Amino acid sequence: MNLQGTIGYKDLREYLTAADKLGELRRVDGADWDLEIGAITEVAARAARPKVLLFDNIKGYSKGFRVVTNAVCSAATTGLAFGLDPNSSGMDMIKSWKKRLGSYKPLKPIDVASGPITENVDTGNMVDMLKFPTPRWHEEDGGRYIGTGCLVILQDPDEKWTNFGTYRVCVYDRDTLGIWISPGKHGRLIREKYWSQGEPCPVAITFGQDPVLGKVGSWYEPWGVSEIEIAGWLRNEPVQVVRGQETGLPIPATSELAIEGYIMPPEGESRSEGPFGEWTGYYASGARNEPVVKVKNVMYRNDPIIFGMPPGISGKSVPLSAANVWLTLEKAGVTDVHGVWEYTIRYLTVISIKQKYGGHAKRAAMALLGSTYGYHRRFVIIVDDDIDPSNIDDVLWALSTRCDPATAINVITEAWSTPLDPRITPDARAQRNFTNSVAVINACKPYHWKDQYAKTCYFTDEVRKKTYEKWKEVLRLER
Ligand SMILES: Cc1cc2nc3c(=O)[nH]c(=O)nc-3n(C[C@H](O)[C@H](O)[C@H](O)COP(=O)(O)O)c2cc1C
Repeated sequence: MNLQGTIGYKDLREYLTAADKLGELRRVDGADWDLEIGAITEVAARAARPKVLLFDNIKGYSKGFRVVTNAVCSAATTGLAFGLDPNSSGMDMIKSWKKRLGSYKPLKPIDVASGPITENVDTGNMVDMLKFPTPRWHEEDGGRYIGTGCLVILQDPDEKWTNFGTYRVCVYDRDTLGIWISPGKHGRLIREKYWSQGEPCPVAITFGQDPVLGKVGSWYEPWGVSEIEIAGWLRNEPVQVVRGQETGLPIPATSELAIEGYIMPPEGESRSEGPFGEWTGYYASGARNEPVVKVKNVMYRNDPIIFGMPPGISGKSVPLSAANVWLTLEKAGVTDVHGVWEYTIRYLTVISIKQKYGGHAKRAAMALLGSTYGYHRRFVIIVDDDIDPSNIDDVLWALSTRCDPATAINVITEAWSTPLDPRITPDARAQRNFTNSVAVINACKPYHWKDQYAKTCYFTDEVRKKTYEKWKEVLRLER
C-alpha cells in the first residue's frame, strides 16, 4: 500500500496493525508498570532502528489493558503515521510536510451519537482510574503518569473555540488526577478564565488516540486555532466526536480511553505534583502543589491502549515540527528559507537561508523567537543555503568557519521559557522567574563581504550526488 500523501489508518489500532505489517512493531508481555516499561522504552528508542512497543499482560493488570510506546520513533513510522515517504531524507520529509501544512483549511469535527470510545462508560462510584496500567516512567518521578502523549481538551468560555494540548497527567486516586501546564500555554490561560469567574474548568482528556491527533495536540498554534480542525484537514475528513455527557466537550470517537471532569480552582484543592523526568532529560521543576482534575466519567474501548510517550524519547523520528517553524517564518515575511531542523527537541534550532540582504539572517531568528514557536529555544543558528541543517557535521563546519563569536552572536535575555528548564538559577526559580536567555548565532558568511569570502574547496551537492549514483555499487556506502 502506498501511503505517501495520505494517512492510511482510521485509529490507533489500525495504525498499530499497519506498523506490524511493516515489521515495525514488537509485543512485550509481562513487563512491570513500575519502571520496567519506562526502561524498555528508553532502551528500544536508543536502537539504530527503534520499533513501536505494545505492552500487554502488564504486571498486576488484566490482559488486554495495554500501553503503546515509541509509536512514532523512526523514519519508517514517521512516514506511516503522517503519510510521508519513509525512504526520502529527513529534510525532504520536512519539505513535503511543510507543503501539506501550507495548504491548511480548517475542517470542523462532526458529532456522532456513539463510537468505539462509548463501548464502556463508568460514572459515579464506578469511576476508577486505578484500573488502568499507568507506568511509573522514571526512577524519581513523584507519581504514575497516565497522560504523557495525551490530549487535553478545553473550550474557551468566552470565544467558545476548542483547544487541544498535550499536558502531563498523573493519577492520585480513583477519581482524582493531577495536571501540569506550563506558564503561557493556552490550556493554562483558558482554565484561569473559568477560575476568575469562580467556576471549575470543564475538561476532557484522551489517553489513547491516533498519532495525528496526538501530533496536533503539541503544536504551538496561535490563540484561537482549534487543533481538532487541523487534524480533520490532515486526514481529509472531519474528526468524529462524541459529546461528553458531563461537559459537552468534543471527544474523538475512536479514542481508546478518555475522561471528563473539572480542573478545580486551586483555592479549593491542590496536591503535590512532580517531579517528572521531562523532555529536557532532567527532573528540573521538582514538586509543588498544583490544581487537581475531578473525574466524573471514564470512557474506554474494550481492551484499551494507553498512548505512552515519555517526553524527550523521540528515537530516530524526524522532527516534523521544524516544518511548523518554517511556515511561521514565511508567514512573518521571511523569504528564501532553505531548510529548518531542530535538535534536542527544540533547544538547538538551525535555519538555512539564501541571504538576500543585510539583516536577513537576524530577521529569521527574531521572527522565530517572536512567534508562539519561539517558546523555550536556547540556540538559534542561521546558516547559508549550501549547509544542510539536518546534517550536524555541516552545521558545525559552518559554525566553526563562518561565525565570528565576537560579532556574530547576540544573546537575548528574559525570553519565554518554562520551569522545566534545568538551567534556571535557584534564585530565579525562587522568584518564579522562568525566563531564559537565547543565543542567536549567525553562522552565515558575513553578508556585506560574502562574495569575497574564501571559496570552499568541497564539491557541490550536485556533484556529490552524481558521483554517488555512478559509483554506489563499488563504494557500497550506507546513506
Ligand atoms: C509528549 C509531550 C508532552 C508534553 N507535556 C507537556 C506538559 O506536561 N505541560 C505543558 O505545558 N506542555 C507539554 N507539552 C508541550 C505542549 O503540548 C505544547 O506546548 C502545546 O503547544 C500546548 O498546547 P497550547 O499551545 O494549546 O497550550 C508536551 C508535548 C509533548 C509532545
